[in-house]
Amino acid sequence: MDITILAIETSCDDTSCSIVVNGKKVLANIVSSQIDVHNLTGGVVPEIASRQHSDNIVYVIDETLKKANISLNDLDAIAVTTGPGLVGSLLVGVEAAKVLAYSLNIPLIGIHHIKGHIYANYLENDFSFPLLALVVSGGHTELIEMNDHYSFQKIMQTTDDAIGEAYDKVARVLELGYPGGPIIDKLAAGGTYLKDIKYNNNKLSEFSYSGLKSSIINYVNTMKMKKEEIVKEDVAYTFQEYAIEQIIYQVQKTLTNKQYKQLLLCGGVAANSKLREEVQKLPIEVLMPKISYCTDNAVMIAAYAYLKYLKKEFVSFSLKADPNLEM
Ligand code: KG4
Ligand code: ZN
Repeated sequence: MDITILAIETSCDDTSCSIVVNGKKVLANIVSSQIDVHNLTGGVVPEIASRQHSDNIVYVIDETLKKANISLNDLDAIAVTTGPGLVGSLLVGVEAAKVLAYSLNIPLIGIHHIKGHIYANYLENDFSFPLLALVVSGGHTELIEMNDHYSFQKIMQTTDDAIGEAYDKVARVLELGYPGGPIIDKLAAGGTYLKDIKYNNNKLSEFSYSGLKSSIINYVNTMKMKKEEIVKEDVAYTFQEYAIEQIIYQVQKTLTNKQYKQLLLCGGVAANSKLREEVQKLPIEVLMPKISYCTDNAVMIAAYAYLKYLKKEFVSFSLKADPNLEM
């Protein structure tokens, strides 16, 4: 029997709804981005993000149903991101999901945002365990080991900033706009290495991005003080080389510890062209979502919800958003 799940994702600044059959077949996916609104402030303002979600959520759900060309009665379950994320943003999705599941009298499934990012890879591939999931997003930089569909063990994380956060901050000092990741990615293609910026990734035992971020900011400030020209392409290139080099260094190190069958790229920074190129050189089968499923979306939430549906892992209508939800 086919299982059709409607999923909602509102953990940060994108209001997203999807309808997916059996965790693989996408009938519809709507992502309403708040980029224009947050570009005015150079980053996400939580209060504004949650207001935008409540303004958009009903429209986004309606459009998703229309696009999928099905009615509410065709749904088998409702899934929603419960955390981690911004509490005011999460709440809008959680409350909408509760109302839908309650009124349709169908199961409600709560999903961890990062597990959703991992399962963006499930849409077009099957998993072979044990696998290593590399989570690189605006809030997370982690290596997670999975021995089956329901087991997640964090084996490395960042001691300070997340890689996406560093991309966004560097973009901000270069006055490039928000979110910075995709802009730096494009600019870097036209840049070359700046020998004045030096950084050593090899001495790090875990992920760390605050040191690299500071080196870049210091360079930009020094150049401004000396009234010298800043070639943004070169700064973007140099930052990106070090940022991705660090990821590859830590992944390589981890791959020597255990015989993993697959490496999964997960999260917004998985859209990065340099990272996508470099991981292909590693001696392991690599899965990566298509670009539109790397950044926040509800399709990935529906994909993991399908596996939870099979296990009958449902939650009650007293479900709460948890901004600090643990793996
Ligand atoms: O997963 P995501 O959409 O939201 C979080 O859960 O954080 O990730 C957003 C992050 C932002 O920091 C954004 O700048 C970064 O992903 N990002 C990229 C690229 N596309 C998005 N970073 C580097 N290169 C990209 N092409
Ligand atoms: Zn995310």
